Order: sequence, then C-alpha cells, then structure tokens
Amino acid sequence: MTSLPSSQPTVAQTFLSANPISAPHTLDTLADTLARALPPGVVLRQPAELVSYGYDASFLSARPDLVTLPTTTEQVATIVRLATAAGVPIVPRGSGTGLCGGAVPARGGVVISLTRMNSIHRIDARNRRATVAPGVINLDLTRAAAPYGLYYAPDPASQKISTIGGNVATNAGGPHCLASGVTTNHVLALEAVLPTGETVWLGSEDGALDAPGYDLVGALTGSEGTLALITKIVVRLLPAPEAVETLLAIYPDIASGVNTVTAIIGAGIIPSALEMMDGIVCQAVERHFHVGYPQDAGSVLLIELDGPREAVAEQRQRIQRICGAYGAREVRVARTTAERAALWAGRKGAAGTYGQLAPNYYLQDAVVPRSRLPQIMQRVAEIARDYRLTIPNVFHAGDGNLHPAMLFDRTRPGDIERVITAGTELLTACVAMGGTVSGEHGIGMEKRDALPLVFSAHDLAAMARLRTAFDPHTLFNPEKLFPTAASCVEVRDPTLLADDATHPWMC
Ligand code: LAC
Ligand code: ZN
Repeated sequence: MTSLPSSQPTVAQTFLSANPISAPHTLDTLADTLARALPPGVVLRQPAELVSYGYDASFLSARPDLVTLPTTTEQVATIVRLATAAGVPIVPRGSGTGLCGGAVPARGGVVISLTRMNSIHRIDARNRRATVAPGVINLDLTRAAAPYGLYYAPDPASQKISTIGGNVATNAGGPHCLASGVTTNHVLALEAVLPTGETVWLGSEDGALDAPGYDLVGALTGSEGTLALITKIVVRLLPAPEAVETLLAIYPDIASGVNTVTAIIGAGIIPSALEMMDGIVCQAVERHFHVGYPQDAGSVLLIELDGPREAVAEQRQRIQRICGAYGAREVRVARTTAERAALWAGRKGAAGTYGQLAPNYYLQDAVVPRSRLPQIMQRVAEIARDYRLTIPNVFHAGDGNLHPAMLFDRTRPGDIERVITAGTELLTACVAMGGTVSGEHGIGMEKRDALPLVFSAHDLAAMARLRTAFDPHTLFNPEKLFPTAASCVEVRDPTLLADDATHPWMC
C-alpha cells in the first residue's frame, strides 16, 4: 500500500488526454469492411450517431470512431475479428449507466453496444436459473421470473435501465446485496468472445457448484471488458420470500443512524437491505417522489427484512427496539406493498434527484469496515467543510459502502479538480480505516489511479499478466482498470522493470 503522488488529479488529465489512436484511413477501411460483413443498420459511422456512445454516467467522455449494434454472438465475433486485425480498440457497453468511465472509449475505436442482444433465452424454474443475453435489463429478468416465484437478487439502483451484461462486467452490487451477495455470487456460466474472435463457454451451464479448472467466470466478472466480451449469461435465481417487511427509522443526525447499523449487525441480524440517506438526500428525494421521506431528519435508515413470516416479524420487533435505543425518533413500518415500493422508488432514484441540487456530481463508491462508519461519516463532513462542497450521502450502510456525492459545476474553473482531490482524500481515509476504493461501481478510468492505495506493484502485475494472457495487444477496453503512468511512480518496483513492455500501466 502507498500514497498517491502529489501530482493528482490524474483522472482529469485522463479526461483531457483521451484521444483516438487509429489512423483515419484504417478506420475508414474498417468501417467499410464491417458494413459489408454485417447486416444493414449494425454499423454507425456518422458523427451525430456516434456522439452519445462516448458517455456513461460519469463526467468522463471521449469520441468513438465507430459504433456497432450486433444482435448475435456471431456478429460480435465478426466485429472482434475485423477490429483486432486492424489494430483498433474495442469498447463494449450496455445502457451506459456506469459511474466510472468504464464504457467511455478512451482511445476511440469501435464501441460494441450490446443493448440489442436483449433476449431472455430461458428461465429454468425447476433448477432456479436463467440464461440471458447481455443487453437484458436487470429488472426485466426479475419481472420475467416472478410468475415462477423466483427473482434475480442483485439490484443496483439503476436496475430499471442497467443491463445484466454491464452488471457482470462491473460486478455490480445493490441494496439487497447485503444478505444475498453481489453479482459474482449469482453468475453460474458465461459465453464470451475472446480477442482472438473465438467463442468460449466458461463455468458450469448446468449449475454445478464447483466447475472444474480455473474460475474464469470469476475472472471475467468485474473485468470491465478487458478480457473478453460477454455474450450470454447463466444466472442463479432465488425463491421469492414468504414475507417482506420494510422499515424507515428516522434520526436527528447521521451519527445515531450509523451507530444503529453496527448494533443491528452486532445483534446477529442481517437484514436483506440496510440503507442510509442523509437529510439532504431525503429532501431532494421527497421533492421529486412525494413518498413520505421526512423533511427535517438528519438521516434515515431504510431497512428490509425477508424470510419466513414469523421470523421476519420477530426480527422486525428486535430492530424496532434497537433503532429506538440508538436514538431513532420514529420507526415507520410500510403497511402495504405500494408503500414499500414508494420508499424504494425514492431510495433507488436518489442519485437521479441530485440534478436539482447542482449541475454535476462526482459520486464516490468507497468502502470501510462497517464498524468505522461513524468515523468515516465524520471525515466526509470534514472534507465537505475543507473543500467547500455540498456532499449528499445515500449508501449501502450495512455493507460499509459509501456514496458521498460531491456536487459541482464543471463550467466553473477549478471545480472538477477540487472534487477529484476531495475524492482522493476520501478514498485515502477509507483505506487508512481498513477499507477499499470501490464497492460496486467498478474501476473504469475514474478509479484506476486509486488502485495503488490497495494493491502492491506485484499484485497489479499479476492482474496485468492475466489481462495480457487474454488480450496481448491491449485492444479490449484500453485505458481501464490499470493505473496510469503518473500514479504508478510511487509503486514502481525495480524488479518488475524488465516486464515493462507487457504491463501497459507501468511507467
Ligand atoms: C446507488 C448507486 C449510486 O446506490 O450505486 O444509489
Ligand atoms: Zn450503490
């Protein structure tokens, strides 16, 4: 572990230096070749058609040279073969809801949008699993599984629009991952196109718990398109619980709310979700959703329990007592499915309401051990004061996974640098408390320079070797996941210098 170099912010430098690398004639030839090899409408090449594919939900952006919209695995393989033969980068994307620049084509090249591959191929209710195409919207899978009494557990706040493929690529989490685990715990097998253009099946399609050999499904999950392009996904489905109860505990301040979190888990109760929203978020959410979040609270906890009816009722009573003992001024219990849905609509839509508060936000995704929540929330308040920032907080408190959102205005000189420096200070504080730099959003471009905070040069080299084993020419989603030259100055290890050529992230 080390500290970041004082030359930060490198994320801004990356943003400014994102340039296509391929020569125009190479791209023209590739565009023609792709258009000939694929059905009409699959290849987009007009500037006005390309522009929206250069963004995700972060503040980073770049310009793709070409966009493709394949509908089959064979078409994906064709695009990969032709683009890699031309030495042109390939960047996969789903709905573009990522918050770290993972789908931003940092070096230009061919964006492969997988949103037209959106079939739910199979729901195998007896074996509780589904096979889906990467462009299937997360919530659509749960809706399709509901008639069988099943659901897909990972539920990122973006689940109404984000794709299962994007969720796998970033190893997405979500409010209900506290009890059921993040995406990687629900992926059984993957079909993927390698940089060679070959199509492989990884993991166990028949759901065997211990597939023989390397766990390449695990390696691809969270690899953000740097190893292979995922074209089919077999996921685990869970049985819908007999009973669900949702509580809203209202606190005068943040400290009593986070102390309650530690107390609930310390009492041996793992709710299915245990989320916090601070006063600023409650107000913004209420203005937009009108679902009954208090306007004068310091914080609220949204707590959900599920399981057998009697066990849930018993846990609810214990939690009500704990909330009261830790200073809740009120604990509401949702009385109907509609009330529960309204509370969740507000929580999952929270980040979307920040547009009321400022033109831009820099939303962090940091982690601390749950027991350090009181200290880190204190630190967030200090950072807000020191950097003169408004920082709303909505987060997965049960996981110790924070999302401080630093509000700013990118048109105001110095604002972007200020929030990036504040973000780095926050990550450094989380790591010093035994936490880490990302909980669920992935690394992309935004977080890559933070990795040396938690990984040694040898750790990063091991990951880089895996990457180059799959993709020796670094054409799959370049400029992602591995630190830039500026940030690896301090982790440079002389014993690794001989390998520089194979570690694109090394200086
Ligand atoms: C959330 C997203 C930002 O939890 O991860 O709302
Ligand atoms: Zn989140």
